[in-house]
Order: sequence, then C-alpha cells, then structure tokens
Amino acid sequence: HSVFQGRHLLSTRDYTKDELMWLIGFSEHLKDLKRRRVPHRYLEGRNIALIFEKTSTRTRAAFTTACIDLGAHPEYLGKGDIQLGKKETVLDTAKVLGSMFDGIEFRGFKQQHVEELAEHAGVPVWNGLTDREHPTQMLADFMTMKEHFGTLEGLTLAYCGQGRNNVQNSLMITAAILGVNYVNATPAELEPDPAVLELAQGLAAASGATIRVTNDPVDAVRDADAVYTNVWAAMGEEAHFAERVRLMRPYQVNAELIAHIKNPNWIFLHCLPAFHNAETDYARDIQEKHGISAMEVTDDVFFCEHARQFQQAENRMHTIKAVMAASLGELYVPRV
Ligand code: CP
Repeated sequence: HSVFQGRHLLSTRDYTKDELMWLIGFSEHLKDLKRRRVPHRYLEGRNIALIFEKTSTRTRAAFTTACIDLGAHPEYLGKGDIQLGKKETVLDTAKVLGSMFDGIEFRGFKQQHVEELAEHAGVPVWNGLTDREHPTQMLADFMTMKEHFGTLEGLTLAYCGQGRNNVQNSLMITAAILGVNYVNATPAELEPDPAVLELAQGLAAASGATIRVTNDPVDAVRDADAVYTNVWAAMGEEAHFAERVRLMRPYQVNAELIAHIKNPNWIFLHCLPAFHNAETDYARDIQEKHGISAMEVTDDVFFCEHARQFQQAENRMHTIKAVMAASLGELYVPRV
C-alpha cells in the first residue's frame, strides 16, 4: 500500500512537503493522460459521495468529472437532499454514508463537521471547503505556479486579501510547508488568526520559507512572482459588506498596483468566483444597494497576459483526481 492509501485530506497541514509535491507531480501526469485521451480508471466500480452544504461551480464540477474519468460513480448530495444538519447528526450521517460509499467529499460551513465525518465514516474524507480551510484548492494553486515557473523553489506568493478566510489560512500553511515565501497584504483589522500565523511560521522554520503579513499592498507585490486575490466578502458576511469594502479598497489588484511588480514573468491567480466586471447584475445590485464598487480585481488585470485563473480552475480537476486515486486506488507510490 502507498503512503496515501486510506488517508483523509482535511488540511494540507497533515501532509509533508514531499507528499504534496508527489500529489502535484501525479496531477501533472493525470493531466497529460487526459490530454492524450489515455484511460486512467483507477477507481473502477467505486462510489463517491459529494456533500455540498454550500453552492459550488469548480469543486462540484471537478469532483464529478474526476470521479467519472477514474471510473467511479459520483453521487451529489446537496443541502436540500439529505438529512444532515436537520434531522440527523454528522456522526449518524458518517456511519451510513461510510457503509455505502468508498470516499466522501464534504463542503460545508464548519471544519469541525468535516473532521467529525472523517472520524466516523471509516472511508477517506476530502475537505471541499469549510470556514477554516480549502485544501483541495491548494494543490491546484501550487500546481499552476509549478507549471508556469517549472519549480516552486525560491518563489514568492503575495495574497492581497483579507487575512481571516479559509483560502488565506490554507495558502499560508501550504506555502510554509512547501518552502514558498508568502506575504498576506491585508488591513490591520483583518489580519490572520495568530494561531494560523504561528503554525505557518513554525512550518516555515523547517522549510526555509519566509511568512509575513503587511498592511501595505505595494510592499507585498513588489517582489512577488505570483499575486493572488479573492472576493472581499464571503457568503454570510453581507451584513458587514460596506465596512469590508471600505477596508479592502486599497488592496484591489488593478493596473496601478501591478505596475510595482518587479518580475516581468509574474502571474495572477484567483480561486474564483471573481468579482471583476462592473456590468454584471450582481455588480449593479451592490452599486445600487451600497453605493460602492466592490471588485477585488479589475478587468484589465483579470484578462491580462499574466492571468492564470482559468488554468488554475482546470487544475482543480486534475489535482482532485490525484487525491482520490492516491487515497483509494491501487497505485505504486515510491517512498515519499
Ligand atoms: N474555487 C472554488 O472553490 O470554486 P467553487 O466555490 O465554485 O467550488
């Protein structure tokens, strides 16, 4: 059995640098097989449950297509479809689904729930995003950087976005494990959870990465190889929308900010969905309701030659496929 067999993916903090790099390398291999239409049905006849308490485009599509390419059957279990959170506990749901499915993806509101599911399901559980972390996103993000630069060694990633969300937590922790220098540009009011920063700095001491937080977006992007941003207010944060936009406004990734990046070969990343176009109904609604524009990135950057967000989105499928095949398939994995 490989070191990945039967493992959950609840946070990248549970994996070593070598293990994460192996998964990225395996994802590149699977991407090549897909391009050449070479079958790779490592999970023939398996059944995979996809629990989604929240909406999703990329994660749902990536898990679904990855399952089918691997020969497995994906079963979508949406918020309105199952009893979880209403008539049934996480423990009971875990025991039932674990007796029928070979693996479970969970996207939900609480990290505690994905951990409870993993504790009781008896099959691998993969975190498709919670309030605390977004680990499957990380593999796609660092794979996209590796594809562009050829290596992750010596790179610097700048995240211009609020310090307290799941993507920031996971990026900071994963960069620290992988030895990628990382800076979060965020207002003082939204700096990262000190426990996450402490964890990342501890991991960075072993990998050699520099992990830091700044309130100055220019300071963050100047030496960056990749500049990453994310929406300013997540679902459920609408009550604080106007205040959040006021705080985040100086961190918008626009032509003025990117002019400070020294590396001419830099790339732009975004986990998506993005708010970049003032002409959408959503943008008009916000403008009408709050009298402000809340775009974290402008169209000229979003569609510039440095932008890699759609490659990053495609890589969600290849990396999720690698994770499922590695934890459930009969693979030969050299010692990592
Ligand atoms: N990046 C991401 O997780 O996208 P979805 O919310 O559409 O799955």
